[in-house]
Amino acid sequence: MAPKKPTRSTKSWQGRLTADTDAATAQFVASIDVDHVLFRYDIAGSIAHAQMLSEGKIITKDEFRAIRDGLVSIEADIAAGKLAMPVELEDIHMVIESALVERIGEAGKKLHTGRSRNDQVALDLRLYVRDAIDDLIAGVEGLQRAFVDLAGREGRIVMPAYTHLQRAQPILAGHAMLAYVEMLGRDGERLSDCRRRVDVNPLGSGAVAGTSLPLDRARTTELLGFAAMSRNSIDATSDRDFLCEFCFCCAMLAGHLSRWAEDWILQATSEFGFLALSDAYCTSSSMMPQKKNPDTLELVRGKAAAAMAQLVGMMTLVKGLPLAYNRDLQDDKRFVFAAETAMRQSLAVARGIVQTAHLRAERIAAGLDAGYLDATALAEYLVNRGVAFREAHHVVGRLVTQAEQRGQTLAQLPPEVLREACGAIGPDVADYLGAANVVRHYRPAGAGGAGQLAEQIAFWRERLGT
Ligand code: ARG
Repeated sequence: MAPKKPTRSTKSWQGRLTADTDAATAQFVASIDVDHVLFRYDIAGSIAHAQMLSEGKIITKDEFRAIRDGLVSIEADIAAGKLAMPVELEDIHMVIESALVERIGEAGKKLHTGRSRNDQVALDLRLYVRDAIDDLIAGVEGLQRAFVDLAGREGRIVMPAYTHLQRAQPILAGHAMLAYVEMLGRDGERLSDCRRRVDVNPLGSGAVAGTSLPLDRARTTELLGFAAMSRNSIDATSDRDFLCEFCFCCAMLAGHLSRWAEDWILQATSEFGFLALSDAYCTSSSMMPQKKNPDTLELVRGKAAAAMAQLVGMMTLVKGLPLAYNRDLQDDKRFVFAAETAMRQSLAVARGIVQTAHLRAERIAAGLDAGYLDATALAEYLVNRGVAFREAHHVVGRLVTQAEQRGQTLAQLPPEVLREACGAIGPDVADYLGAANVVRHYRPAGAGGAGQLAEQIAFWRERLGT
């Protein structure tokens, strides 16, 4: 699409302004490079608007039909990459309207009756974000299913849980997988909650104050499938908190994905050796032939920076705007589309990574005796035998020091050493030591044992319909 020389005849405000903008300025004020992706929503909004105008006898039925058919043909041409989008037309709204006038003549000039680009673009964005949210929720659920399936397949392997990145207590591996499913569940809920505030029709608000024409806003609300219509034309045309909120939903989701990516990058190292990633999601080095790098996970972690940056950009864009519409808002799309794209891509690749990953059970088991994962359980064994927890904590602390000096696990300590440390320790202690035994004894709901894992898997399978 070679930019045409700007001519006054292509401008919607040609009656008012007489000087042509120069090429650099035309480029500067244009947003067509970004907002062309709104074309389907712009056309859907225009068809609904025109239908409402014709039902209200503001335009004729024939004019509506001509407008609708013209818009449908324009939509097909844009989808096929066949419509020129000259930069001097500024944005997708003007590109479509001028193509319409070119195709159907006089009737096309009536489309914008009672409408401004201000309510038009607010409408397009709401329609766009509504769909984007539905797509992202589907992506989140797809990833949740992949985690739940992995937890079902390999989740009963006993592994260490970490705090401070130091070995803490043993858990079933599925428990860690389902921790991410919980985070993603809230990300999905946040998106649906945001959707309620997005699902409001601003059309009919005009530029700022509405119009003297008898628009039926309830009708366009119905035609476009909105749950509600806006109450205040100033707010409807100029507020973008729904976009800030959407960007926050993306940023928080990105934060969760980034934590997961970091976890799995670590677990896939030779040092951890817990996790085998499929070759399909790794790359090698141009120099070091042995390398298998988890680049996809690193990019998931990296894209979180993009998503978070868009939130900051979006918030900053709106923070000082006086009522009502200001052209600054044109740049909102850059933030929203970038945040959405980053999350759509990350979710898709994340799902594939999880679906194809395997735990390295032997490697995990081989290291399970390190780090005294059963120390807390031993203290709790003493609590069950009447020792105060603080005292039990000291006893076990001393035993860990002794075991460390002897190069042994707690289970390997001779019975007399254990008895000497605390008379409450009996021969049955063997049943409580060692990571696998500890996991068997977890009691409360939400803990890292087998019963709790089965409950969580059942909960999520039902919730996700898998
Ligand atoms: N391209 C503009 C935007 O995205 C459309 C609204 C223009 N409105 C105006 N009064 N100049 O915000």
